[in-house]
Amino acid sequence: MGEARWVLLTALAAAIAAVVAFQVPFLPAAGAMLGVTAVAAFVPRRSASRRVRLSTQREMRRMWPGTGMKMTVDALPTPCFVADGRGITRYVNAQALAAYDGVKPGDPLSFSLRAPSLLEAFDRVCSTGDAERISWIEKVPTETWHEAHIAPIYMPGSNAQNRSHNLPDFILVVIQDLTENRRLERMRTDFVANASHELRTPLASLTGFIETLQGPARNDPEAQDRFLSIMLDQAERMRRLIDDILSLSRIELKAHVRPASVVDLSEIIRHTSDALSPLAKDLGVEIRIDLPETAVRLKGDRDELIQVVENLVENALKYGSIGNYVDVGLSAHPEDQDLAYWILSVRDYGEGIPSEHLPRLTERFYRVDVDSSRALKGTGLGLAIVKHILTRHRARLEIESEPGEGATFKVWLPALEKSDEPEQPATAQQD
Ligand SMILES: Nc1ncnc2c1ncn2[C@@H]1O[C@H](COP(=O)(O)OP(=O)(O)OP(=O)(O)O)[C@@H](O)[C@H]1O
Ligand SMILES: [Mg+2]
Repeated sequence: MGEARWVLLTALAAAIAAVVAFQVPFLPAAGAMLGVTAVAAFVPRRSASRRVRLSTQREMRRMWPGTGMKMTVDALPTPCFVADGRGITRYVNAQALAAYDGVKPGDPLSFSLRAPSLLEAFDRVCSTGDAERISWIEKVPTETWHEAHIAPIYMPGSNAQNRSHNLPDFILVVIQDLTENRRLERMRTDFVANASHELRTPLASLTGFIETLQGPARNDPEAQDRFLSIMLDQAERMRRLIDDILSLSRIELKAHVRPASVVDLSEIIRHTSDALSPLAKDLGVEIRIDLPETAVRLKGDRDELIQVVENLVENALKYGSIGNYVDVGLSAHPEDQDLAYWILSVRDYGEGIPSEHLPRLTERFYRVDVDSSRALKGTGLGLAIVKHILTRHRARLEIESEPGEGATFKVWLPALEKSDEPEQPATAQQD
């Protein structure tokens, strides 16, 4: 036994004696190190390499996750936690820091992740070493859907005992927010259900009249005329609905492609108001137009912008007819030094829209009063189409209304930038 070993043994004995006799505050880590070193000093020399290996593994576990793992976790696009087998958070990426308040390495994972099903799954992965995928819903503050993938991590050359019991050294928890996906899924299923329902009603009516014409009304020319005219109305209603659905899906297809052509918005407003003047006359409403003197040129798709103006003015005429007037205006609004907007406003003086309906008006098939919309031949898709067209034009829609005061629909359309103007050829001047 060398002299150094005796020195260490003496130091250990002295430390123990000091704690027992003088109640010296004993730092557990320092004590353990001293103990480990002292005991190691007496282990026979032939296991030296194994000792080195063990302490390297311990050190690796203490230091882990290393730079490589941190870089990988940082590169993940969703919140990601690395915890040890005791459930202590060891590392989190920036997405986790942003999504979970007060998350801190060193704290128990349960401080930041509170969903009971997630914590139970975490415990199962710790004890079985089998990866799990679970999903859960959080109700507060709003309903949100989440999914977590919980995977075990084994260190290279992991402790043999851990390996034989399949116990992971660390656990990786990757969380995904599924709220947007679920919302889109729900919208799609709602859309199919609503569209089928809207088509089923006129179809049922058509079938009923055909049976009547084949049976009781077979020899009644007067009833036949009446029923055929109702059938034509129902067929028209189905056609309008199918046209609107197709129009919506066509616009959705090119939602991300901004129109390239330059159009004159004043001309579009004049054209559309003329086209709607027979309807205005039928409803006893006057359309008053207030446009700038000069052309208002901006980037847009002419047919789609006609659809926007048509939908807004038609709604104002139909739902605001008791106000007798509909005002259509166009004015410039400088947002800041570089960017300017044209504001198209359509104002009616009808019954207005209760505020709780305003945020939902652009949803497909949403109507304040389904019966009156149907009676006015509405499909409930007009404003949904408007919203999609405006998104494509980088424009936005604002709706203001007070019950009893009518409604104003404002469309903010980006003005033409210098770079959008087609180049004028140098020889453009002609007699
Ligand atoms: N100016 C308005 N005043 C009062 N209510 C309105 C006005 N504009 C829209 N609404 C309400 O918003 C609902 C949705 O309008 P939207 O244009 O999307 O559908 P619609 O007019 O019923 O059918 P469509 O436009 O497809 O013919 C309407 O049913 C109506 O209840
Ligand atoms: Mg409409």
